[in-house]
Amino acid sequence: MSARILVVAAQSAMQLQLGNMLRRDGYEIAIAPDGPEGLRQWTAERPDLVACDNDLPGPSGMELVMRIRQAEQNGSHTPIILLGAGTDVEAKVAALRAGADDYLAKPVHPQELSARVRGLLSRFHRAEQPQQQKSGRVVAFYGAKGGVGTTTLAINTAIALKRELKRSVCLVDANLQFGDHRVFLDLGPDSRSIVDAVSAGVVDLDMLGRAIVRHETGVELLLAPPSPDQAELVSHEQHHLLRIIELLRTLYDHVVVDMNERFDDHMLDVIGVADRLVVVMTADLSCVKNVRLVLETMAQLQVPQDRLMLVLNRANAFTGISAKSVEHVLKRSIEHQVVNDYRSAISALNSGTPFMAKRPESALGKDVLELARMVDQGAAASVELKQLELSPVR
Ligand SMILES: Nc1ncnc2c1ncn2[C@@H]1O[C@H](COP(=O)(O)OP(=O)(O)OP(=O)(O)O)[C@@H](O)[C@H]1O
Ligand SMILES: [Mg+2]
Repeated sequence: MSARILVVAAQSAMQLQLGNMLRRDGYEIAIAPDGPEGLRQWTAERPDLVACDNDLPGPSGMELVMRIRQAEQNGSHTPIILLGAGTDVEAKVAALRAGADDYLAKPVHPQELSARVRGLLSRFHRAEQPQQQKSGRVVAFYGAKGGVGTTTLAINTAIALKRELKRSVCLVDANLQFGDHRVFLDLGPDSRSIVDAVSAGVVDLDMLGRAIVRHETGVELLLAPPSPDQAELVSHEQHHLLRIIELLRTLYDHVVVDMNERFDDHMLDVIGVADRLVVVMTADLSCVKNVRLVLETMAQLQVPQDRLMLVLNRANAFTGISAKSVEHVLKRSIEHQVVNDYRSAISALNSGTPFMAKRPESALGKDVLELARMVDQGAAASVELKQLELSPVR
């Protein structure tokens, strides 16, 4: 059965344009000319997705999104894509804050609409689609602010998972423009990268195999492009990164992703697919403010609380703000703290040998190993569960 999409748009040209684009992709379309009628149809029909113009007579599209979110019950969630006139980040953030799952600036390009709709349907109706044979866990590291140590923790956690916990691990540098794993791991610009995985236009296991680099610690790497201008080769195609991660998780116990800070489409894909989202922060005011916004955004994106992990890096550095007061302000506990050890961190960086490889017994090494254990715990549980499901009834 094809997915049913409710299009809410006032102008008949817009109704026609959106309706035709989506019908061509094989969806069933219903149309509402304004917010109240949109809400009525949503209540009666429960479509699989809502595409809503923000510019409506009476209550705006954004208000309709909020009404729908208020009316949803029992964890149900209709993916909503909001179309608006603003092209800037603020417009997108406002849409996401209202509860939309995606935002598209008008005029709408048919291929873009098509890709976004497909992406949202697969993100939110994953359970209804045939399950891929998935085994590995996606562990995404997200820095609440630049420079808080996200890359340091992602790389060293990956090494701990591999070396200490004997897991197979692929580490993905998803900071496509300015990824710096080459620097952290002392690899030159000639090493293969994610660009090699997408060079044929399609991503498959064969292409991925050509792009992965094995590090001396045993961790396998998917590096960012060697120069910022090549990022476009990966990012121009919607969901390239998502497809890569989905494939990797069929090959490894853990796919560790070092994310970039912007909530762009690729990062929204990573958030949608992550089993564990490690939010890295330090105890300074601007970072705490960012964490609050990040947690709100995650909630709006329907990321379940138990997938989120808040990690305070450089926990004992003097900032004048204690872990306790951070927890108090955020009304949430910090799951893990990592000690401040600038000397070890910087000497590892300068030598290109991560501290988890050189000195796992150091205080920094111990804290990161503990983090790896926490991240791994969920994985072990899910593997056990799968085995239980598979074991024959006696
Ligand atoms: N626990 C720690 N103790 C001391 N120094 C640390 C710690 N963690 C990271 N650092 C140092 O902080 C600096 C920034 O680290 P890193 O590059 O990992 O941060 P990032 O959040 O990934 O930054 P970017 O926003 O540039 O991607 C580095 O010099 C690193 O050595
Ligand atoms: Mg980084």
